[in-house]
Amino acid sequence: MSLKTLEQLADNKLRELGALELKRKLRITERKAFARTLQEEKRLVSFSCNDYLGLSTHKEVIEASVKATRQHGTGAGASRLITGNHPLFQTLEKRLARLKNTDDSVVFGSGYLAGIGVIPTLIGPDDLILIDELSHSCLKTGAKLTGGRILNFKHNNVLHTEELLRNYRRKHRYCLLITESVFSMEGDLAPLSELSKLAIQFDGWLMSDDAHGLGVLGHGRGSGFTQKDPITIPLQMGTLSKAAGAYGGFICASHQVTNLIRNRARTFVYTTGLPAGTVAAAIKALEIIERNPILTTLPVKRAQLFTDELGLPQAKSAIVPIILHTPERALMASQSLEKKGFLVTAIRPPSVPRGTARLRCAFSAAHSEKDVLEFASAMRPLLKPL
Ligand SMILES: Cc1ncc(COP(=O)(O)O)c(C=O)c1O
Repeated sequence: MSLKTLEQLADNKLRELGALELKRKLRITERKAFARTLQEEKRLVSFSCNDYLGLSTHKEVIEASVKATRQHGTGAGASRLITGNHPLFQTLEKRLARLKNTDDSVVFGSGYLAGIGVIPTLIGPDDLILIDELSHSCLKTGAKLTGGRILNFKHNNVLHTEELLRNYRRKHRYCLLITESVFSMEGDLAPLSELSKLAIQFDGWLMSDDAHGLGVLGHGRGSGFTQKDPITIPLQMGTLSKAAGAYGGFICASHQVTNLIRNRARTFVYTTGLPAGTVAAAIKALEIIERNPILTTLPVKRAQLFTDELGLPQAKSAIVPIILHTPERALMASQSLEKKGFLVTAIRPPSVPRGTARLRCAFSAAHSEKDVLEFASAMRPLLKPL
């Protein structure tokens, strides 16, 4: 009886999603070098991967991963605080801290785990969180787990952030300002300098999620390094699963903060460490990023070639959204591009706000200029208003 009810519950929820064109489907996809994919036997050039530098198929990265797997085995075997802390973690954490100009860093199992682990370690029910309304789910979920007061500020709106700080800051003990630095679905950049100044002025701390900036902006060092002087961001979060072509998340911060996180972040303490092969891949990828500043400029150049070609506002990052509003239109556009040999997954609510379903185009150093120009030609007819 109860099983039947459970299945009915699932069926009902799925039917509701289906009626709104919001049901999702896993498709078997084999990723190859040069942004090529084989999806259900169709060869497609992908403009949907976050492998911005093509490092997930880079020979040196693969070799480093295989070597570490041979040496340390396929799994870490336990939480890092028990026996899972193989020697490669120290190398990776030092390299990340150097790259981000902080004392130290902590590597987590994924970017999502970093987000939901770090925020509630630092912030509690008496505290205030101001968060950009379009921030990633891991930041919003992390904020909820604190039990503190959460106020959304309008997307990239410094004046609104300041107004909220003026009205609410003094009622709370601690205050955290949270933003993505490159917005994953918009491709635009947060006003990090201004937010950093506001955080300092109102006795708060800025936390940025640079998932889409690492390897792409600031000579590969990320969004905090695009200006002459690094921006003061005491909590710099990121992921190794995008431009670094590996997997895992991290937070770069001071010694005291990283020490506390290693002691108290639940998604660090109560989960198995990343496998050595994955950590070795990330180390090699960061090494390639550091020695190849030119490579790191290519994703944005490719994105700008696309926006210039189509007369769209010039890309600021490797991500260009094409807003088509309804899930139906986004799905149809994705299918039409697929027929022309391009893979661009439709992004629908709740990943993006209602009424803003879109194609999210992600550009990579692995794309040739020819790939981008052909993709732009295929996209052109879809930009015409209905
Ligand atoms: C902005 C942002 N933050 C965090 C994450 C999560 O990172 P990960 O895929 O390593 O869990 C993602 C990726 O999905 C992201 O786009």
